[in-house]
Amino acid sequence: MLPPAAMEFLEQHFNVEVNPEDRPLTREEILEKVKGRDAVLTQLVDKVDAELLDAAKGVKIIANYAVGYDNIDVDAATQRGVMISNTPDVLTDATAELAWALLFAAARRIVEADKYFRAGKYKSWSPMLLLGQGVSGKTLGVIGAGRIGTAFAVKAKGFNMRILYADEKPNPRFEEQTGGQYVDKETLLRESDFVSIHCPLLPSTRHLIGDKEFDLMKKTAVLINTARGPIVDEKALVRALKEGKIFAAGLDVYENEPAAEPELYEMDNVVLLPHIGSATTKSREDMGILAASNILDAYEGRVPRTLVNREVLNKLGK
Ligand code: DGY
Repeated sequence: MLPPAAMEFLEQHFNVEVNPEDRPLTREEILEKVKGRDAVLTQLVDKVDAELLDAAKGVKIIANYAVGYDNIDVDAATQRGVMISNTPDVLTDATAELAWALLFAAARRIVEADKYFRAGKYKSWSPMLLLGQGVSGKTLGVIGAGRIGTAFAVKAKGFNMRILYADEKPNPRFEEQTGGQYVDKETLLRESDFVSIHCPLLPSTRHLIGDKEFDLMKKTAVLINTARGPIVDEKALVRALKEGKIFAAGLDVYENEPAAEPELYEMDNVVLLPHIGSATTKSREDMGILAASNILDAYEGRVPRTLVNREVLNKLGK
């Protein structure tokens, strides 16, 4: 279900059929349901490939209810003259804030401490109880200097942190807003106390962090991933956490969502969240309204506000 404001917007303009289940449609169900539609509003769990686009023959737009669109074969859509849109900006701060929540939770062992207290284990204050890593004045490594990476790094100023960032190329806007310094990935991993991932999932970023990278990191480092699970080799992460190659991790995304590597469930030095980066009432509502207005734009002949594949416009003669 979408937030009510987005549903109302859609229903004002279209005949809408909604997945009534609180689960993704099966492949068979989705291939059947997309037939004959003018538009399809997808979620990040819905795989949009050539087969689905062919089943949805005649569809004008696939409006993804997410900023990331690694679930969509954009080239296949462009070839078929189908517009693809996403939901950037409206979830930037929500996701950056969640990355900070994870960072603090992992660094200061918040979830572990909460469990400890609830289990009745807290008998007396102790100088050595649940020691974690401090944040102020430390070095923050940001992988991916786009909108969310920038919003995340801007918030580090309040903690007086040194900011390093890595990306395909330097980003002057990031540097201007955060004072961050562009370095290669290896330098970032070696020098950072906290490493937070904010790049998209692309063939070039799959397993960007694996055994080799964990070997470079500080034993006191904390890794945060709110971007996409497959950017981190999850088996290598298990090894790194077990062998003390890093101090802790905070994850909102997984290689094989909704599951995580079985050993992670048992570990205290990792905080595991169910992909809630953009899950504030306002962001989820704004994402729905943006996706819906992209559909309306496409339907009424305008260029959707957050069209991903602008090259499709040539194909459509616009
Ligand atoms: C996105 O938008 O890509 C997030 O992962 C889900 O909100």
